Amino acid sequence: MKVSPSVMIIFGGTGNLTNSRLIPALYHLESANLLPKNFKVIGVARKEFTDKSYCDELLISLKKYSRSGVDEEVWKRFSEKVTYLRANFDDKDSLSDLSAILDNLEKEWSICFNRIFYLAVAPSFFPVVFDSLKRNKLNEGCAKDANPARIIIEKPFGRDLKTAKNLTTKLAGIFKEEQIYRIDHYLGKETVQNILTFRFGNEIFEPILNNKFVDHIQITMAEDVGVEGRGEFYEEAGVLRDVVQNHLLQVLALITMVEPEAFDAKSIRKEKYEALKAIRFIEPNEVDKFTVRGQYGPAKSKKGYREEDEVHKDSNTETFVALKTSIDNSTWKGVPIYLKAGKRLEKKVTSMTIQFKETGHRLFEKFSNKPEANLLTFQLQPDEGVAVRLVAKKPGFEKELQNVDMEFCYNSAFREPLPEAYERLLIDVMNGDQTLFPHIDEVEESWRFVDKILEGWSKQSKPQFPNYDSGSWGPKEADELIEADGHSWLAHQLSVCQIHFRN
Ligand code: BG6
Repeated sequence: MKVSPSVMIIFGGTGNLTNSRLIPALYHLESANLLPKNFKVIGVARKEFTDKSYCDELLISLKKYSRSGVDEEVWKRFSEKVTYLRANFDDKDSLSDLSAILDNLEKEWSICFNRIFYLAVAPSFFPVVFDSLKRNKLNEGCAKDANPARIIIEKPFGRDLKTAKNLTTKLAGIFKEEQIYRIDHYLGKETVQNILTFRFGNEIFEPILNNKFVDHIQITMAEDVGVEGRGEFYEEAGVLRDVVQNHLLQVLALITMVEPEAFDAKSIRKEKYEALKAIRFIEPNEVDKFTVRGQYGPAKSKKGYREEDEVHKDSNTETFVALKTSIDNSTWKGVPIYLKAGKRLEKKVTSMTIQFKETGHRLFEKFSNKPEANLLTFQLQPDEGVAVRLVAKKPGFEKELQNVDMEFCYNSAFREPLPEAYERLLIDVMNGDQTLFPHIDEVEESWRFVDKILEGWSKQSKPQFPNYDSGSWGPKEADELIEADGHSWLAHQLSVCQIHFRN
């Protein structure tokens, strides 16, 4: 694959995201020889570092976060491409140095490269960075020809519809939509990218993905970790803003959207937007009925949320949510959709299961048991794969049935490690492909859905937090929410792709 010459300027070059995700992703791209010949990373932050001491720091965390260890040769090659710039974004002149660095590189390389600005800083810094970029004409891109700079902004984009719109206003006049890459790293995951291929590349599934055949859909994002040193961010966000507004609604859009006209950014983003628009709002006065929120308490020698660093001792921030909604269009009307996400749950699993309707099985009346509903599960992580639960005759002389699973597992089908989401997404930015980056219309639509819930919660009486133990599956009310409809959370029960193959 040919990747365009690029310089990636990371604001927040010493922060957690840079250390845990961005540098490991770029390192792996170097290791796979995917970085372009002309490539540089410039870490920008306030701390005092030389290029050398900056790289030394990066190496420490790379050793911790790399998915395949650190190869000395590769690191040497990669670290030669990394430099550091000390800058205080508030200072009017601080980015003029950056301008000069980029212009000099352009002369040295004699090419027009992509200037990519990654905002790995807290959202409160965004306006200052935008202003500095504009003041120094850094939004214009390379001097020689029309290759406008690109800006990467991490999710959540805003903290509600109003702030998302404010952010858009601040960006207007500096960056156009074509220059803005809103990162939702779930879209870069192989298993999430595969949803569209699986649906539209296999003729056998699409005809049954609708309300005639589907009983309900469940999407679960369970994490076993807590807030991992991001207490300050989490206090402002909570799980609804942190992962439902983006990751979960994007996955839901991908499984319910209609077939796009083409496999390109414009068509896919348009259909995702249409799908998001059709999600039924949970009105503020319905939150009691259709949502459950929770917060983890201490258990099994793990701290409770309220004991985490930078978290208020009486915090009411939710670390867990379960909700029920549906899609208001002719394809999906009447199909319940259950979403669940939480931290410090029993185990890490992100999956989506489509449960099909049972149509009555006359034939098996004399059997000792009845066929159970078919399931189609997308196991997004870990043990990535897709499984179809079928019913088979249990071998033997009795009239007995048994559930069996037909699985496609990444580890046996491909036998090579999956690239990390950020690796794919960073390559796409360098190549100017916005397919895997949500359009502002999608982001705003997702906020409309989330804002109604937040409004409803703000009117509820104070939650009785903590209300679930660290290491459990969340508050019992979340089970009751789904059990009231005669179902149960399947991510707890299903085990997909458990047989491990050696690569
Ligand atoms: C991030 C959230 O977007 O996704 C984190 O901010 C969460 O709170 C993380 O832990 C989970 O990502 P993954 O790829 O491990 O599912």
